[in-house]
Amino acid sequence: MNNFKSIKAILSEVRTDKKSHFKQTSGFVQHGNTSVMKHCISVAYVSLMIAKKLHIKVDRKALVRGALLHDYFLYDWHEKDGGHRLHGFRHPAFALYNASKDFSLNRKEKNIIARHMFPLTVLPPRCLEAWIVCFVDKYCAFSETMGDGRIQWER
Ligand SMILES: [Fe+2]
Ligand SMILES: [Fe+2]
Repeated sequence: MNNFKSIKAILSEVRTDKKSHFKQTSGFVQHGNTSVMKHCISVAYVSLMIAKKLHIKVDRKALVRGALLHDYFLYDWHEKDGGHRLHGFRHPAFALYNASKDFSLNRKEKNIIARHMFPLTVLPPRCLEAWIVCFVDKYCAFSETMGDGRIQWER
C-alpha cells in the first residue's frame, strides 16, 4: 500500500468527523500557492514516508492525525488582525485549542500540534512522532515557499 492510500482513511475521518472544520483549511493560504489543507496533507504524507524509510517505529495513526491537525488554527494568517499577531509563535496553541474542541486527541497528537514550531515554541517535542512532524513541517514549508510546493502525493 502506498503512503497516500494509507493516510486516506484517516484523512477522511478527520474531514468528516461531525465537529470537524478541517474542510475550511482548504480556503486558507499557508505558503506560496499552497493551502493549509494541502500543506497538512503533505506533512502527514512525508512524515509517514520518513518513518517507513528510516524504519522508525511510530504510532502511525497519531503521526498522521497530529500532522493533519498541526495547523488547525482556522484563520488566514496573511490578513491583518490583532488576534493573529505573532502567528508564528502562537498558532500551535490556537491549533491545539481548536483541535481539542473538535476531536478527541491522545497525548502524542496533542504534543505533535503543540510543539511543531520548536524552537520557536521554546519547549521541544516529547515524542518521536512530534519530532518527525517538527522537521517535516519545516521541509514542506521550505518546498512550498521556494518551489511549486508539490509533494509526491499530488503527482
Ligand atoms: Fe504551523
Ligand atoms: Fe505547518
